[in-house]
Amino acid sequence: MTGAPIPNKIVGNILLYKNAGTVLDLGAGWGRNALFLAASGFKVTCVDNNDNQINTFKQKALDLGIAANIEKANIEDYDITWSYDVIVSTSVLHFIKNPKKVIDNMKEHTKTSGLNVISVFTKENPDRNFDYLFEKNELRNYYKDWEILVYNEYLSDLEQHDNLGPHRHFIAEIIAQKI
Ligand SMILES: C[S@@+](CC[C@H](N)C(=O)[O-])C[C@H]1O[C@@H](n2cnc3c(N)ncnc32)[C@H](O)[C@@H]1O
Repeated sequence: MTGAPIPNKIVGNILLYKNAGTVLDLGAGWGRNALFLAASGFKVTCVDNNDNQINTFKQKALDLGIAANIEKANIEDYDITWSYDVIVSTSVLHFIKNPKKVIDNMKEHTKTSGLNVISVFTKENPDRNFDYLFEKNELRNYYKDWEILVYNEYLSDLEQHDNLGPHRHFIAEIIAQKI
């Protein structure tokens, strides 16, 4: 998988549980996770609503010779037509006013034994300028009826990106398996 992007850690951990199957990445951005998973052997479909991200995604997929589809849509009202082995949405759902609706849609369209993999910012996030910040344990509680394989809440290491100065995020992340 030479040249494939490095995913965020929670997505890399999917390989501990699954190494093939279908993946839907909601809010895939430029594809650090989706292209990694495609290069790892998954059949990957992506959704994003930002043209710049979609164009960068397509160019990177082309440059790296990695097959992965991306379509332009708003994940808040995206009609998921299939059931997937894995549905991923990292660093996206705090941009959505009603993430519970998206999570319900993800859960409904996941195959039995399939995974949902999510990371979000919580109310402890130093920057509170997001549409929705999660309460402590809120993300875990949405998956009470699934097996929780991984759940963490933590303050990230210092990051620097998008013309922002050094900053940290307070993150909740989960890998949950449909029973
Ligand atoms: C911080 S980036 C995260 C990208 C990727 N998931 C990752 O972890 O690298 C957030 C992405 O979510 C997308 N996004 C935000 N709101 C969205 C919506 N309502 N529908 C579709 N995509 C959305 C943005 O365009 C952006 O690409």
